[in-house]
Amino acid sequence: MNVLVTGGAGYIGSHAVRELIRAGHTVTVLDNLSTGHRAAVDSRAHFVQGDTGDAVMVERLLVDRRIEAVLHFAAFIEVGESVQDPDKYYRNNFASPLALLGAMRAADVRKIVFSSTAAVYGNPVRVPIQEDDVRAPINPYGRSKMMTEMAIEDASKAYGLGYAILRYFNVAGASPDGTIGEAHEPESHLIPRILMAAREGRAVGIFGTDYATPDGTCIRDYIHVVDLVNAHILALEKIEEGRDAVYNLGSEKGFSVREVIDACRAATGLDIRAEEHPRRPGDPDRLIASSSRVRALGWEPQYPDMTTIISHAWKWHQTHPRGYKS
Ligand code: UFG
Repeated sequence: MNVLVTGGAGYIGSHAVRELIRAGHTVTVLDNLSTGHRAAVDSRAHFVQGDTGDAVMVERLLVDRRIEAVLHFAAFIEVGESVQDPDKYYRNNFASPLALLGAMRAADVRKIVFSSTAAVYGNPVRVPIQEDDVRAPINPYGRSKMMTEMAIEDASKAYGLGYAILRYFNVAGASPDGTIGEAHEPESHLIPRILMAAREGRAVGIFGTDYATPDGTCIRDYIHVVDLVNAHILALEKIEEGRDAVYNLGSEKGFSVREVIDACRAATGLDIRAEEHPRRPGDPDRLIASSSRVRALGWEPQYPDMTTIISHAWKWHQTHPRGYKS
């Protein structure tokens, strides 16, 4: 299939590009490089620097490249920043995908895979979280993603758009060969922050030790980035017009912050120091996905083991201490 990957220079998008090419698809990447890295884009993909919100340019690109489906990754991802500057999030995470949907309709592109998030659930009513559980996001980031989900669902009903909405839990790891990986600036995610602290001999902060969990620290569901992007390829291949297709992407297993730090100690062989800090605002106690729906689609994680996820991330961090600037 001829596919357009928006945000293909980002962490998850760049892994998706690689796996899509491996699966035999022809890939065009659209990325404005505001947070992505040109060096992360596979050289076999056709790269275009530009904005997903530029409907005229996107429509031309869809026609010129004979695009049959779009995988939309391009988005901002910082919850705290979204509270400080909601406009930035509503523009990039809602207005831009709306423009993209318009361009797709004009160019008669009828399939989209959308990167959504567990943040649409807010404080979950139960764990494991099921896809039909209520959407009640508690910050502009989660709301911007929920609004795009709704726009896609309505476009499906009104115009027959085929879609898959994928709600990510905690994505981690890197390409097993260590050539592409996570390079956010600033980095806020737990596993890279532990590994960066380990490399630099610093202590990592634990944000809150008084949560309603067995060891007092937050529990999250971690999924290897390669397993996550392979779920996209499967979902893409199974898109059917008029079919509801919302999938949680997680592993159904929860790890506390302390357990993740212990797993990083085991994977790196380093004695990583940890310091207890106050809570970070807006963190729910526990987020764990029910993954039965995506498994029913035929998805089986290749790297379900936490030590493997961390080892791959560690390989990337050791070989790229300054990310793509290394
Ligand atoms: N944490 C620490 N120390 C750190 C970094 C994180 O203790 O240095 C803790 C956090 O407080 C949280 C857990 O580790 O309890 C995981 O934090 P991450 O930032 O790695 O991930 P989140 O669960 O906060 O975020 C993920 C996605 C977001 C999404 C959110 C939904 O990365 O995009 O889930 O709630 F919005």
